[in-house]
Amino acid sequence: MDREGHLRVGGVDLSRLADRYGTPLYVYDAATIRAAHRAYTLAFAKHRPYRISYAIKASPLRGVGRVLSALGADASAASLGELLAAKRAGFAPARMQLHGNAKTDEELRGAIALGAGRIVIDGADEIERLARLVRRRATPLSVWLRVSPGIGADTHPHLRTGVLDSKFGAPIEGGEALAQARSIALTKGLLLVGLHAHLGTQLHEAERYAELGAALAGLAGDAMAATRAKIREIGVGGGLGIPLREGDRTLDLASYAAAVSAPLRSRAETAKATLYVEPGRSLVGRSGVALYRVVGTKRIGGVRTYVSVDGGMGDNIRPALYGAEYTALLAERASAAPQEQVAIAGRYCESGDVLIGDVALPTARSGETLAIPGSGAYAIPMASNYNSVPRPAVVLIDNKRARLIRARETYADLWKPER
Ligand code: LLP
Repeated sequence: MDREGHLRVGGVDLSRLADRYGTPLYVYDAATIRAAHRAYTLAFAKHRPYRISYAIKASPLRGVGRVLSALGADASAASLGELLAAKRAGFAPARMQLHGNAKTDEELRGAIALGAGRIVIDGADEIERLARLVRRRATPLSVWLRVSPGIGADTHPHLRTGVLDSKFGAPIEGGEALAQARSIALTKGLLLVGLHAHLGTQLHEAERYAELGAALAGLAGDAMAATRAKIREIGVGGGLGIPLREGDRTLDLASYAAAVSAPLRSRAETAKATLYVEPGRSLVGRSGVALYRVVGTKRIGGVRTYVSVDGGMGDNIRPALYGAEYTALLAERASAAPQEQVAIAGRYCESGDVLIGDVALPTARSGETLAIPGSGAYAIPMASNYNSVPRPAVVLIDNKRARLIRARETYADLWKPER
């Protein structure tokens, strides 16, 4: 914030950006991304060897990815499209991993042709399908096996992935993961070098990560005893939560790194394995702020006050989909005392399109700029054109300068593919 009470990011006045580029506008700060990456390196350095692999789904924008590829991060992709986005953003294909529970043959072929470093096999059928694709290869394809550790997590049910009843990964429980490890080890053309699991996202409990580390270490030991595979890489997924509202509890990186890596270090079979951590949200979430214009206010006496803005679920589906709770500030009056509790209503034609259910704000006037911090992850990549609304522009701030990294969509863009 500056002396006039204007919010600034990386030295740039947000209300000026709203004037210049229009709203809704997403603003990323490169310095915040670098700081988050550095915090990861500091937390995991003690537990070497490790790799930080950016889960590019959190924000596949080239301008954002470039900040992380320049720092030497790997990229973790959930589709061929994300592999291609990672390549555009400067990640080396050999430093990419492709996961996903339903990769098509086309995607697998595309990933192999691109030279993606690791394919993370998810499911018995994929072993067979991949086997057909690699039959004629001179050198075997290095793969990981996605497993399901059967570990719950205190997050929204849609955001849990490590539980037994999940579409992702071969369950360790009951021996399915071990059976698939065997089957990969017996498949010509495939080389099993790693195991991978992901518990879910927006998580806060160190113990769950310790359980994950232990489950993967145990399975690695069993798989190496049962096959000739040398498991030298352990992917622990991502999932570390970030605070979105004041007082939100989060797990600090040092405790997270210690919890997930200790079980790997304590077993001889995995002591030297490279730990791959795949953060998305915790690398880019806090670096992004969404800017909207206040359109109007509706007061329903004794019930609620709705402050409506010019964006909403089309650019950030997370509140509607997961009940995600954000906070907001007025970008031109960031230090003004709050005067009322309001809901921030989106512009889309759905009652569920409420960006924030309850936030204390000074009385907002139409035309003022409203800022929602913590919007850097999973908002723009999940954006839609619902109600035929073009998607927002995106700006990246670096070295006190703002640069447009994605233009605002036009109406012509919306209709371009129509025949
Ligand atoms: N690794 C794997 C295999 C993943 O599936 C994910 C996220 C990550 C890493 C990165 O997780 P993160 O560090 O960002 O929590 N759309 C949802 C998030 C879905 C995450 C899916 N997988 C949201 O808006 O909260």
